Amino acid sequence: MKKLYIETYGCQMNFADSEVVASVLVSQSYLPVSHADEADLILINTCSIRDNAEKRVLARTRELQSLKKQNKNLKIGIIGCMAERMQQELFKKLEGVDLLAGPDSYRNLPQLLAQLDAEERVSDILLSTSETYEDIDPLRFQSNYISAFVSIMRGCNNFCTYCVVPYTRGRERSRPLESILKETLDLQKAGYKEITFLGQNVNSYNYTDEKGKQWRFPDLLAHIAEQIPEMRVRYATSHPKDISEELIDVMAKYSNICNSLHLPIQSGSTVVLEKMNRKYTREDYLKKVEMIKRKIPDMAISTDIIAGFCGETEEDHQMTLSAMKEVDYYYAFMFKYSERPGTLAEKSFDDDIEDDIKGRRLQEIIELQQSLSLEHNKRDLGKTFEVLVEGFSKKSELQLFGRTPQNKVVVFDRGEAKPSEFVKVIIEDCTAATLMGRLV
Ligand code: SAH
Ligand code: SF4
Ligand code: F3S
Repeated sequence: MKKLYIETYGCQMNFADSEVVASVLVSQSYLPVSHADEADLILINTCSIRDNAEKRVLARTRELQSLKKQNKNLKIGIIGCMAERMQQELFKKLEGVDLLAGPDSYRNLPQLLAQLDAEERVSDILLSTSETYEDIDPLRFQSNYISAFVSIMRGCNNFCTYCVVPYTRGRERSRPLESILKETLDLQKAGYKEITFLGQNVNSYNYTDEKGKQWRFPDLLAHIAEQIPEMRVRYATSHPKDISEELIDVMAKYSNICNSLHLPIQSGSTVVLEKMNRKYTREDYLKKVEMIKRKIPDMAISTDIIAGFCGETEEDHQMTLSAMKEVDYYYAFMFKYSERPGTLAEKSFDDDIEDDIKGRRLQEIIELQQSLSLEHNKRDLGKTFEVLVEGFSKKSELQLFGRTPQNKVVVFDRGEAKPSEFVKVIIEDCTAATLMGRLV
């Protein structure tokens, strides 16, 4: 048996893809291992979203290449978004890399590896318009066996001007409902308690079954929530332009669909949003948030924000800060704008905000979010939540941690509770990052 080591960077889609890759290769009698120095094959599943994500992978691969000195038969492959974006350039930058495979080529990995016996370097970076890996049962080699990702669509058609994803992952396509349902029921049988549906834009889900019935995302969500009432359901990510009342009504109707929503705003300024090609204005976004909160008052909303996009003025930046307050995010992923080769922004706009200004604006965004998160958490003091226990707290074996439906982490003394159980916890203390509570 050959030993396989996979290291994953980037978004949840990449983590889900690594499970597909593991499944494909285990069927070819590879054995997953958890240390790179034991491996005969190292695959690095990569991300191109920002320049520093790519730099990290380049540095790490250079480090891993040195393992070839000890193991002459070791093969190293770069898979995922960087393989797709940089193609043969990667072979030039990284001497020790033997294989490249893009996000739609994982089925082909066994053939590529076989080719490596005869050829020095092999690559397959063709994108597909139909690949969803629907028939491949992901091998959950890094799972906590409590919570799992289920990929429901791939690719993106939105072409936000800053973003590389439409180029690295190709066009949108939806996975058949039947295969999503089967995977979900299998997870339930295996004892999982929570699934997260994944896609770059799950709201674009669109599948027509054999009987000619069309399934959009709210239909899929309602159907699955009904089939597995004991299991928590989450999803990520949804594009604000596609959030509909129908979707929020489905979330309100099924108690196992968690009341948390990741809704990337990117900027609070309509001028910037237009330049980003986000297809909504500040007002559109805030109106949707109002609708969501009206229908589901305890919905916790998280977001993504980019600081210092091309042409962003101080006023635009202030608009982002004020939108953050207005929405009252409980959590945010915050980034400095990083120009990506080949994107529309790179071709059409000047990356004209000085790095120190980007840095200062990002710092202001981070500090504001810290205080919003703390205030958000303080409002939970005295409330009781249903918590899915995920494991032992990092600090003490006597404490457990889990998540509320709103996706907040709660730490509490373990009592009789065990990982994978649902328990009720009353919140007694908090920081900006964590709730602390007691079993009731
Ligand atoms: N499909 C998801 C997000 C994918 S990328 C969505 O549309 O919501 C995750 C986040 O990375 C984006 O929401 C954005 O905030 C950030 N991002 C994407 N491209 C970026 C870039 N060039 N520079 C900085 N941040 C970027
Ligand atoms: Fe990128 Fe926009 Fe697509 Fe999200 S919706 S993946 S930010 S192009
Ligand atoms: Fe990165 Fe590709 Fe995901 S660029 S964010 S790994 S889709």
